[in-house]
Amino acid sequence: MPKDRGMKNIDLYLDNFTKLITVKIKKKGKVKILDAGCGYGIAMAELVKIFGEKVEVVGFNYSKHDGNKELLKRELLKKKVFSRIELKKIKNFPKFIYCDASNKLPFKDHEFDFIYSMISMYLFDDKIAFLEECNRILKKDGIARISPAFGRHDSKLIRGQKGVPEYYQYFWEVWDKGKQIKIWEYCNKTSGVRSIWKNRLKGDNPMYIEIFGNVKVNFKLRFISSVDLNLIWNDWGGVKSIYTTQLREDFNPRYRKQ
Ligand SMILES: C[S@@+](CC[C@H](N)C(=O)[O-])C[C@H]1O[C@@H](n2cnc3c(N)ncnc32)[C@H](O)[C@@H]1O
Repeated sequence: MPKDRGMKNIDLYLDNFTKLITVKIKKKGKVKILDAGCGYGIAMAELVKIFGEKVEVVGFNYSKHDGNKELLKRELLKKKVFSRIELKKIKNFPKFIYCDASNKLPFKDHEFDFIYSMISMYLFDDKIAFLEECNRILKKDGIARISPAFGRHDSKLIRGQKGVPEYYQYFWEVWDKGKQIKIWEYCNKTSGVRSIWKNRLKGDNPMYIEIFGNVKVNFKLRFISSVDLNLIWNDWGGVKSIYTTQLREDFNPRYRKQ
């Protein structure tokens, strides 16, 4: 799985994210940004290259093997993003943190002006917990854009995988009273959330779930289980997350009658 996407990719899929940052910096002078599932962190370093000390950039990964400071420096030299001399002069080099995005994120409430996440959420066990955590750590005027992991029809990448059964190409299952519903439609009915999915059959178009910091986001979904597709077969990647709209208080499963 590629871990070296840069801002060109982020701007394509997350709809000119650099412009959002430019506008906010003009207004506020300095912004704090989180890259959720940053991989090597090329995009984080490019943000430092574009905006200098007007950005403070933090990224998280599941493990150090997926990306760390030393690896990023090596990649930046290889890709000629910075020279050795330029690298030495950077005062606000991106910070790496390690955590599991399905759990409470290790950040304070209202810490970030922006959060972006590129092709990482499809690997998280509990995607809804992560999206609600993004809302908690965003400033009131903050915005998060997360590539949505909606599944097969949104991405050439996913469509291209070898031998993957159709029903394993969707990374969400959301159930409402015994019927499966569409997560992207559900997102648009949830306050503080928007899902953008332009021209979905063509692939290279903006696709993201947007979370706003000015509303407390509650998806009202209960996490049932996740299925790690990576463990089934080498060529099938990602994690399917299963939810129900039936919350604990209003639903007693038949086999668990109290
Ligand atoms: C496919 S890479 C994408 C990296 C980068 N965003 C890019 O587009 O090049 C997925 C990243 O998500 C991170 N990741 C996967 N599962 C995670 C989890 N449960 N918690 C935190 N990070 C996770 C991995 O560490 C990895 O860096």
